[in-house]
Amino acid sequence: MFLQSFRSAERPPSGHAEPALPTETVEADFQRLKTGIHRELLDSLDLSRITGLSDEELREDIRHLAEGMLRSRNRKLPAIDEDRLVDELIAESFGLGPLEPYMQDPDVTDILVNGPHEVYVERLGRLQETNTVFADEEHLLQIIQRVAARVGRRIDEHSPMVDARLADGSRVNAIIAPLALEGPVLSIRRFGHRPLQVSDLLVRGSICPEMLKLIEAAVEGRINVLISGGTGAGKTTFLNNVSRFIPAGERLVTIEDSAELKLQRKHVVKLETRPKSAEGTAEVAQRDLVRNALRMRPDRIILGEVRGSEALDMLQAMNTGHEGSLTTIHANDTRDALSRLEVMVSMAGFDLPVAVTRRYIASAITLVIHLARLKGGVRRVTRISEITALDSGEYVIQDLFGFQQTGIDDRGIARGHFYATGNRPQFARRLADIGIDLPTELFAARQLTPDSAVGPLSYTAAAEGTIALEDHI
Ligand SMILES: Nc1ncnc2c1ncn2[C@@H]1O[C@H](COP(=O)(O)OP(=O)(O)OP(=O)(O)O)[C@@H](O)[C@H]1O
Ligand SMILES: [Mg+2]
Repeated sequence: MFLQSFRSAERPPSGHAEPALPTETVEADFQRLKTGIHRELLDSLDLSRITGLSDEELREDIRHLAEGMLRSRNRKLPAIDEDRLVDELIAESFGLGPLEPYMQDPDVTDILVNGPHEVYVERLGRLQETNTVFADEEHLLQIIQRVAARVGRRIDEHSPMVDARLADGSRVNAIIAPLALEGPVLSIRRFGHRPLQVSDLLVRGSICPEMLKLIEAAVEGRINVLISGGTGAGKTTFLNNVSRFIPAGERLVTIEDSAELKLQRKHVVKLETRPKSAEGTAEVAQRDLVRNALRMRPDRIILGEVRGSEALDMLQAMNTGHEGSLTTIHANDTRDALSRLEVMVSMAGFDLPVAVTRRYIASAITLVIHLARLKGGVRRVTRISEITALDSGEYVIQDLFGFQQTGIDDRGIARGHFYATGNRPQFARRLADIGIDLPTELFAARQLTPDSAVGPLSYTAAAEGTIALEDHI
């Protein structure tokens, strides 16, 4: 509300004597005024006293000080903007400054700052530019430094990149000069909001019930699954949901660069890598953690994303007693995922002949599920492939399900339908042996869903809990 009051200032707010300024200039002026007051405030606040104050008392203290500083600058703000000033000063001192309103907005999933004057947010799958600006580079840098400091890291020209996690679980990356050429860049992936559930994925048309039934059976039956997709395609979200199909009582070890997985179950050991720090503590890479995990008697290992040499250790785990392990990979399609795995295995430095690497991959990975982010921000499972064998050094792959895009609707959202290819997975026999039956009809070649463009708009139905998974399967 405060934001709107200042932003809608095409005309100056009452009591504001200056001539009309374009919205952006008014906003920049406000930010500059605030930054000046903030710097002065930091000098006058007794920081040691703050921890003992209630929110209300802190607010009153800051309001009192800010009023004095406005008076000394001969500035008078309308009450509503003064309220906003106090709010933002608190956010500046203890939060993310001008980004704080987006941190409070449950619909915002990404906040992307390209230098002090360009802030984008993603809402319900759509990226939008905002009017939010920082006073200057220094202001943005200050906020980045505070985020880094909170997790005991430093960001400066000697160490110009940092990854951190906020108290609400959001993932933050910052990169500054000399690596970032046009001002500090800050990227926040929010996880504070309610993560998407299986029913949300169904409602949004990201997957269809038939695919889900196959995946549920495969995960329960300890088939090794690789989830592939591009940046932001929904791999982690999908992994989270797929992990729920693992029967209760199994011991899971999760390994991530930045802990994002939220497995709501017991008996999960969560491990996170550690980058090399400026103070000289050694790096602990995913590879070290995968190896360590093998000594922790896990039933399954869940690797957030395979990126490098740990691919070899992960494949080894999948081949030797930890079947049913899961991971994700950045790739363009299910076949591309396998080529990328080969490259990653070669990073382990053993000079394995390609034929050996492929044998390794083909015997470890059985199911590859590819996700894509299509036009309009919708995410779809676009292909599910089974690797059945290796023949003369080439993978034998059969597709089980797919998504056929047929066009773009008038909202700019990709439309199309899911289909079954008619191939029955070879692992169905293995599953039947352990009592998990997959009906043959499930795989009969046919179009599975009507041609439609279920977009983010139908999300509310899921949020209200009107759709349950059981209704679909
Ligand atoms: N099926 C979906 N429909 C709409 N939005 C989704 C869907 N899945 C994930 N998202 C949203 O997309 C964003 C990215 O999701 P997620 O982190 O799972 O992707 P990712 O592929 O793991 O990304 P990265 O490549 O950065 O690791 C999140 O904000 C998430 O809420
Ligand atoms: Mg991810």
